Amino acid sequence: MISAIHPNLRRSFSILFVCLGNICRSPTAEAVLRDTAARVAPRLTLEIDSAGTADYHTGRAPDPRSQRAARERGIDLSGLRARQVTTEDFTRFDLILAMDQDNLRNLQAMSPPYTRAELRLFLSYAPQLGLLEVPDPYYGGAADFAEVLDLTAAASLALIESLQQRAQ
Ligand code: 4NP
Repeated sequence: MISAIHPNLRRSFSILFVCLGNICRSPTAEAVLRDTAARVAPRLTLEIDSAGTADYHTGRAPDPRSQRAARERGIDLSGLRARQVTTEDFTRFDLILAMDQDNLRNLQAMSPPYTRAELRLFLSYAPQLGLLEVPDPYYGGAADFAEVLDLTAAASLALIESLQQRAQ
C-alpha cells in the first residue's frame, strides 16, 4: 500500500533569530541552535540565520565578548557577519524569533500584511525559564554574555522539541 503523506509531516524548517545589533544575542542563538540540533536532532533539516533590526553593525563579526562566551562552550561564532532584517525575510523563513519585546514590536511594524513567517519571542518556547526576553548584554559584563549562552541553549532544546512534535 502506498501510504499517503500527511500534509503536516515535515522535517525541514527555516528559522531566523532577530535582536537589535545582530552581534550579540541573535548570532549566539543561531550558532547554539545549529550546534544543539546537530547533536540532538540530526534528522531535522534546519535553515538557520540571524539578523538585526538595526544596521549599526552590518558586516561585522559577532562581539568579541559573545565570541568568548560561546568559545567557552565549544561554539565558534567567528564566521558569522551581521546583517539587517529585510522584507524578504518575512517570506523566506517559517519562524522569526525575537530576542526581546522591542525587537518583536519592530518586526511586527515592518512585516508585510501576508507573510509566511510566524513571529514570536524565542523564550516563549521555554516557559520554565520564567523569562520572556534574552537580556541585552551589550552594556553588561562577562556574566551577562554567559547568561545569553544559558538562555539560548535552554530555549534551543525546547524549540527543537516543538519542531519534532510538528514533524511527527
Ligand atoms: P544585540 O546587542 O542586539 O544582542 O546584538 C547589541 C549590540 C549593539 C548595540 C546594542 C545591543 N548597540 O547599541 O550598538
